[in-house]
Amino acid sequence: MTPNLAAAAPRHMTDLPSPLLTARPIVEVKSVSKTYPGGIEALSGISLDFPEGRLTTLLGPSGCGKTTLLKIIAGLIPASGGQVFVDGREVKGPGPERAFVFQDFALMPWASVIRNVAFGLELRGVAHSEREAIAERHIARVGLKGFERKYPHELSGGMRQRVGLARALAVDAKVVLMDEPFSAVDEQTRRKFQEELLELVANEGKSFIFVTHSIEEAVYVSDRIALLSRRPSRVSAIIEPKIARDDDPDRIRRDSAYLDVVEEIWQQLKHYLD
Ligand SMILES: Nc1ncnc2c1ncn2[C@@H]1O[C@H](COP(=O)(O)OP(=O)(O)OP(=O)(O)O)[C@@H](O)[C@H]1O
Ligand SMILES: [Mg+2]
Repeated sequence: MTPNLAAAAPRHMTDLPSPLLTARPIVEVKSVSKTYPGGIEALSGISLDFPEGRLTTLLGPSGCGKTTLLKIIAGLIPASGGQVFVDGREVKGPGPERAFVFQDFALMPWASVIRNVAFGLELRGVAHSEREAIAERHIARVGLKGFERKYPHELSGGMRQRVGLARALAVDAKVVLMDEPFSAVDEQTRRKFQEELLELVANEGKSFIFVTHSIEEAVYVSDRIALLSRRPSRVSAIIEPKIARDDDPDRIRRDSAYLDVVEEIWQQLKHYLD
């Protein structure tokens, strides 16, 4: 199998028709390129649709342009070419319908946990008491109750990451962009967050664009996985894991359908290691 497959049609683990094929794309990336000042070409004409109400994961080698693509979708940096549409409207900058969980947490060091979590709401002009109440709920949800008045330097890396997560969830955006959101937490917390993420996807109708380096995590949480090639990145394959999520998490992780997808992705990605 060659690593540079042309953008493939979605592959399924069963012959059932894919509900994703008919799901409306909430985010459409059309021939997007990005060359950074200094000449590094991170993306070269990448095109990809993200189905509404689902979780799509970008999986690819370090430095292939995943964060770059998320930032372009978020409107935080401009593309050098191509277009991104969110809910049918072309992205020209950040917007309230998109929230970002940053790879490096991006907390304000001078602001308390609660102010950091409430920051998106503050920008939207939500009244102080209301935004603090919302922030408190989300702080509790990520397991940080009692840390509301602490500052980022008083927290561990994993706790900071949870603050970033709470901040993104607090704004109640339609599209949540998550850049390795669980990379700094321990395995137990990571699995708890994965379950909560699956619940959010199932119950809140939000659309998630997720980046992880973990193939197992990608297969476990994703409705759709876009495998990206080395920089400048292109989509090398699209895989829809079709995991029966109503089963016990431990059983799912031992299930042959799950393990087969993990293996299939590994066989494709290992070409990028040399
Ligand atoms: N602000 C910048 N200026 C110049 N080059 C940049 C900038 N940001 C990223 N790059 C380069 O663009 C390429 C893609 O970077 P990006 O951060 O998008 O990769 P990534 O897929 O998110 O990697 P990782 O998995 O390690 O987080 C890299 O070669 C990186 O060095
Ligand atoms: Mg990155």
